[in-house]
Amino acid sequence: MTELPLYQLVEATIAAPSVHNVQPARWRIAGDALLLFEDMSRRLAVGDPTGNDAAISLGAAAEGLRLAASRGGLTAIESRSALPAATDALRPVARFRFEPEAAIDPLAEWLDQRASWRGSFLPPTEADRTAAAALEADDARVVVEPAALAALANDFDRASYGFTRRRDFRGELRSWMRLGRSHPLWSNDGLNAEAMALSRVEAVGAGLVLGPLFGLLEKLGLARILLAEGSKVERGVAVILFHRPADEGPYESGRHFHRLWLAIERAGFGAAVLAALADDREAAGEISATHNIPSGHRLVSAFRIGRRSGPGYPRARLPLSSVLV
Ligand SMILES: Cc1cc2nc3c(=O)[nH]c(=O)nc-3n(C[C@H](O)[C@H](O)[C@H](O)COP(=O)(O)O)c2cc1C
Repeated sequence: MTELPLYQLVEATIAAPSVHNVQPARWRIAGDALLLFEDMSRRLAVGDPTGNDAAISLGAAAEGLRLAASRGGLTAIESRSALPAATDALRPVARFRFEPEAAIDPLAEWLDQRASWRGSFLPPTEADRTAAAALEADDARVVVEPAALAALANDFDRASYGFTRRRDFRGELRSWMRLGRSHPLWSNDGLNAEAMALSRVEAVGAGLVLGPLFGLLEKLGLARILLAEGSKVERGVAVILFHRPADEGPYESGRHFHRLWLAIERAGFGAAVLAALADDREAAGEISATHNIPSGHRLVSAFRIGRRSGPGYPRARLPLSSVLV
């Protein structure tokens, strides 16, 4: 292989989802192979102290590589062999070599289009519910009944507030929020107001509620109300509960997470992640029991899905030069 296709493959991985859009994946071209690293400076010390979400994000990036390779008629073969030593800055994750292959992965064409949709959804129709139910899979439980969605909406607001009410969590979250276009990293990483579907006024409000006004608003019992997003869960077509074998590592789960999201995109739905449902132990336990998540599986994440009510928005991403090391 010449170097050019490897650059192109790395470029295609940049679209992969990552927690808070921190984009922890770094790539090195090593002859005919690609090395994947985790950029340790992108770890969320508060929100992700064990690196679980970082690993899911790295698995999603690795799956992006596989799909992009398949688009170019190549199979990406992953191994842990001959990895360089870890440094404080970079943790080596995997090595990929490439072999010719005929079949293009059917999900590959959705790689560049998938994006979080945090805006409102169109009112669901019966046809939408049927299309959503067709996304049911060995690792995806699709919930469409309105009463069950209302309960999940409530669970989500409770779980989410449990994290957000922590000052250190809010501080870290705000450090990844880009609330105005003048923010120097608006187009590069983190969560910008457009990606969060916030108008200018709402973005200013979010900065205040999550920042200096939080203590007062909490005392007044208003913080939870102002931060609640359950209505968006309720008004969607479905919630998809993503569950994987309990003994599977988050990197591997991340590959399947990305694939499920691409399948959601292929079905014409917009999706937003509801990680709090899986990250809050109590919520995850209750939901797993209520929705018959198979024993031996654990809830890894969840999505709310629906038909998008408007156009998309530009992706905020690091340039290729920043992800090559
Ligand atoms: C492990 C993980 C957890 C995530 N948790 C959330 C979440 O709780 N809420 C949310 O809106 N998006 C969540 N996301 C989605 C990311 O914020 C999103 O992928 C990132 O901002 C990049 O934007 P994109 O999906 O539009 O490409 C999560 C993604 C990953 C990989």
